[in-house]
Amino acid sequence: MKKEILQMLRGAGEDYISGQVLCEKLGVSRQAIWKNITQLKEAGYQIESQPKKGYRLVESADKLVGADIESRLKADCLCRKVECLEQVDSTNTRAKQLAELGEPEGTLVVAEEQTAGKGRRGRGWASEPGIGIWMSLILRPRLKPQQAASVTLVAAMAVAKGIRECCELETGIKWPNDVVIHGKKVCGILTETSSEPDYIHYAVPGIGINANTKSFPEELADRATSIYLETGRKTDRNALIAAVMNAFTDYYRKYLETGDLSLLLEEYDQMLVNKDQEVLVLYGMAEEADPEKMQKGIARGITSSGALLVDTDEGMKEIV
Ligand code: BTN
Repeated sequence: MKKEILQMLRGAGEDYISGQVLCEKLGVSRQAIWKNITQLKEAGYQIESQPKKGYRLVESADKLVGADIESRLKADCLCRKVECLEQVDSTNTRAKQLAELGEPEGTLVVAEEQTAGKGRRGRGWASEPGIGIWMSLILRPRLKPQQAASVTLVAAMAVAKGIRECCELETGIKWPNDVVIHGKKVCGILTETSSEPDYIHYAVPGIGINANTKSFPEELADRATSIYLETGRKTDRNALIAAVMNAFTDYYRKYLETGDLSLLLEEYDQMLVNKDQEVLVLYGMAEEADPEKMQKGIARGITSSGALLVDTDEGMKEIV
């Protein structure tokens, strides 16, 4: 019921909404409304109550609240349910456990803190409590496993769009799936899948967004940024999560329509910060790449399978 109450309070904007109207619309008693409003207040929402006028939402909580996220999802949003945790080892690990137990597509796991956040290539992902967005979505795409790699690119597009819409901040994508602002990383994505040779059981894109981080350790400061550092404002994390899920829904459906990125190519390329920029093509893992084989070139955009097209300085067209 908190989801509906929040929807109605937000819909009323600066105005009050009477207890009577809430009761009638939700078909519950005044006491039930009062109880839920009290719980919302306890969770950190500033809700003004005035006799004869009713209730007014003054400020949302600076806390992740499943009902708040759900109250902002579009009616056709792919995300149907939010599991909101205070602390977890990794939201990816939790989402995979749920998926193994048969949880349907569309369940989102979010946590205030991860104690063992996972990054790509076996690295960790710092996930301090209360300031970031650490979340993982359960997907069950009817695609071949090799097509699933593009889920990460789809998620990057959704994050870029969500930040743009919710925080009025221009973002770009550094191929394949880092979301960047002014060249610094604001979001990382790690997709984990469980599949058989020609069947995907589930895919779990895990998204980490530096939302309200106030500073980074020295060794990261020139590569990482946060929405707070870029805008000077605190982001409403529930609103941003919902904006990302709403955007993801549209992109993901287009991706499923063809099973590749062909309907998203143009938009992805517009977000691509590497487009028409010089890139260095490395063969093998970056740290161990053979310098003899490095090639300079200009990135031209992506293919429908998510690979980067590069015109090399030696006049070749490479698909990376
Ligand atoms: C990267 O290395 O760029 C990917 C980082 C992905 C971090 C997110 S935070 C939510 C989800 N849970 C994890 O353990 N990792 C991902």
